[in-house]
Amino acid sequence: MSVPKRKVYLESYGCQMNLADSELILGQLSASGYELVQEPKDSGVILLNTCAVREHAEQRIYGRVAELGRLKNKNPDLVIGVCGCMATHLKEKLIQSSQFLDLVVGPDSYRRLPEIIEKAVKEPFVDVRLDKYENYSGINPIRAAGVKAWVSIMRGCDKFCTFCIVPYVRGREHCLPIEQILDQVKNVADEGYKEVVFLGQTVNSYKDKEEGLEFADLLERAAEVEGIKRIRFTSPHPFDFDDRTIEVMRDNPKICPQVHLPLQSASNSVLDKMKRRYTIEFYDELLQKFRESIPDIGITTDIIVGFPGEEEKDYQHTYDYMTKTKYDSAFMFKYSAREGAKAYNWGDPIPEEEKIRRLEGIIQLQVTISLEINQMEVGQVREVLVEGEAKKEEGSWFGKSPQFRTVVFPKDGAKPGEFVKVRIERATPHTLIGEVVK
Ligand code: SAH
Ligand code: SF4
Ligand code: F3S
Repeated sequence: MSVPKRKVYLESYGCQMNLADSELILGQLSASGYELVQEPKDSGVILLNTCAVREHAEQRIYGRVAELGRLKNKNPDLVIGVCGCMATHLKEKLIQSSQFLDLVVGPDSYRRLPEIIEKAVKEPFVDVRLDKYENYSGINPIRAAGVKAWVSIMRGCDKFCTFCIVPYVRGREHCLPIEQILDQVKNVADEGYKEVVFLGQTVNSYKDKEEGLEFADLLERAAEVEGIKRIRFTSPHPFDFDDRTIEVMRDNPKICPQVHLPLQSASNSVLDKMKRRYTIEFYDELLQKFRESIPDIGITTDIIVGFPGEEEKDYQHTYDYMTKTKYDSAFMFKYSAREGAKAYNWGDPIPEEEKIRRLEGIIQLQVTISLEINQMEVGQVREVLVEGEAKKEEGSWFGKSPQFRTVVFPKDGAKPGEFVKVRIERATPHTLIGEVVK
């Protein structure tokens, strides 16, 4: 092979932290003279930034690599690489499993990508070392166009929930210095972004040890940055909230009334086996505190069904808790056994059909609840930050309400990046539909 054309095509999978990493990858490559292309056939280098959280996520990538690999028939110099969490999870095994792969690069090695690509031209190259000091300071990400900017404030995770692969594939928790984060917030404000979304696997365990500052301090300081109108964050861990964070959210109009509170299960025996570090009583007290302090708050969650040892009565606890609590929406998953995570040793005893039954049960429940919650919005006037063209409704914009609900409305003079007041007139389980209030 010869040195690749400096044209890169990148596909991203997984959570927002991965999408934010893709922006760093593009930043690093463009600083070395790479140009981003929109079609794999136009590229000299193809990178897939991957997720390992469930088996299904990895299976998709094998198929995609094989499909993209066919481009090598026409372009033998094409370099194809896997980055991200699946890279650290499978390491050399990935190269062995595919004749098309030239490089495997973990989430702490993106600074070295330009050199790694040069090496991979000669022979397949693997770099999956984790480095708890890597925070990508000094690399300017190439951010997706739009109205909101992602800012990773911490990397890795220290929680080791027994079902989860993340601490193994992304390493130990490490936080960026607060000044670096605030500089990024100022930069994105100068570039015209209206909203900043702080990212981390347990984003609210953020600390700047040197300055003695915590997550609530970061929120407060970020809210002082001129030009930024909205601040959100994801994913917090229920165990890491303190009262001050809730107070800062309550008292600061720029911090959106929205929180993602991953529950996973409402059964204490399952929560204990999952090593989630809270009981359902602790969790519920926290959730009620949010609702009492910020009455119109939007609350979403994550649920896993079919974890080893989850009995029908445990599942019923989750079902009943969701019925009672009425989340805005929920990401719901069947348990997927991940080699490397602790629960992998406990097998995967719940039959697939049973997992599907449990999953479908809560999905149906949540559709009804989401519709009910959205219908309660009818008649309200909500401030919406216009994001762009609505996909399904022609001639309409979509945007988010402060509570993070999707609002669709006829264009009527408004532009992306502007705030408009929208009266909600109709609701579906996923969308609020309204008219701009003049
Ligand atoms: N750090 C976040 C979670 C990141 S992973 C948190 O703790 O909230 C996103 C979601 O994927 C998790 O909340 C969980 O619901 C789901 N998940 C993680 N590992 C899984 C597994 N092995 N099987 C099924 N779902 C899983
Ligand atoms: Fe995984 Fe738990 Fe860490 Fe979330 S907190 S990333 S679920 S180990
Ligand atoms: Fe997936 Fe890695 Fe995010 S495993 S969920 S892309 S941290």
